[in-house]
Amino acid sequence: MQTDVRPDSMQRITTKELADAFITEQIAQVRAQVGDKKVLLALSGGVDSSVVAALLIKAIGKQLVCVHVNHGLMRKGESENVIEVFQNQLDANLIYVDATDRFLDLLKGVDEPEKKRKIIGGEFIKVFDEEAEKLTDIKFLAQGTIYPDILESDGVKAHHNVGGLPEDMEMELVEPVKLLYKDEVRVVGSALGLPDEMVYRQPFPGPGLGVRCLGAITRDRLHALREADAILREEFDKCGLAGKVWQYFIAVPDMKSVGVKDSKRYEGWPAIIRAVNTTDAMTATIEEIPYDILHKITNRITNEVDGINRVLLDLTPKPIGTIEWE
Ligand code: XMP
Repeated sequence: MQTDVRPDSMQRITTKELADAFITEQIAQVRAQVGDKKVLLALSGGVDSSVVAALLIKAIGKQLVCVHVNHGLMRKGESENVIEVFQNQLDANLIYVDATDRFLDLLKGVDEPEKKRKIIGGEFIKVFDEEAEKLTDIKFLAQGTIYPDILESDGVKAHHNVGGLPEDMEMELVEPVKLLYKDEVRVVGSALGLPDEMVYRQPFPGPGLGVRCLGAITRDRLHALREADAILREEFDKCGLAGKVWQYFIAVPDMKSVGVKDSKRYEGWPAIIRAVNTTDAMTATIEEIPYDILHKITNRITNEVDGINRVLLDLTPKPIGTIEWE
């Protein structure tokens, strides 16, 4: 059985060969730990839970039950991607719960960031719990804990993440990547055959677009944010910036300004572009985006997204601005 301390002798997993050896070793360990029992996993579609899912599917197949909760605050296409990869390609035992209405109804009129986070985190646990209760005979809970989560003694991530699950679930934990650093998890994910878009996915806050749809979330503004964000990602993919920028997204504040469309006054929200580089997210610098690309993105967003009439660029490094607007 593993402990929570990474031994000095443990080699950093940097190649497919090392990843394959790790995978073989973990498959044996997981099989020994769980036998023929079922294992439950909250699959967000983030790197860590996706890699754990792929590893466990290899180790125990249909004994793994994945639950993907769509809280309605995912980026465009993300839940669909989870279903495509895990249900269609990897033939996983996947329960998909579209809880969009539950989350958005609860968030109605709530503008305080911490309160929004609490509602999203609390409801996530409720939805997951309800699904777990429907299943019988589950003794194990798999988690995508990685080594920095254990090292972060202040528990910042655990507090932040919606994946923080209730302690009274009384299930034994299965945490196959808990001694790995993020870069190693990615190498293992690639060796398991997960698509690059999943393995090299940008960090995405647990409360998702909830921290980027500023103030009280409304469905129309959330929709506009999701569409504008999808355009930004598409254009960054096309021009090669996607591989160079650590994190990039759109935030939409709860304010309108006057514009003009079809010769009429047109009140709309601004879409704010944030594109930063960092190694540890503690500090961040601003990525230069060529003006022709900015013009193209502005043109597309203002023409294609209902409700957005301006595009702004955030040039603030961290500190003093945090990465998210929240
Ligand atoms: P800030 O805004 O504090 O963000 O500069 C630093 C990094 O953390 C990400 N972030 C989160 N990550 N759960 C996460 O896993 C969260 O609740 C959360 N909130 C912020 C943020 O996207 C940035 O990469």
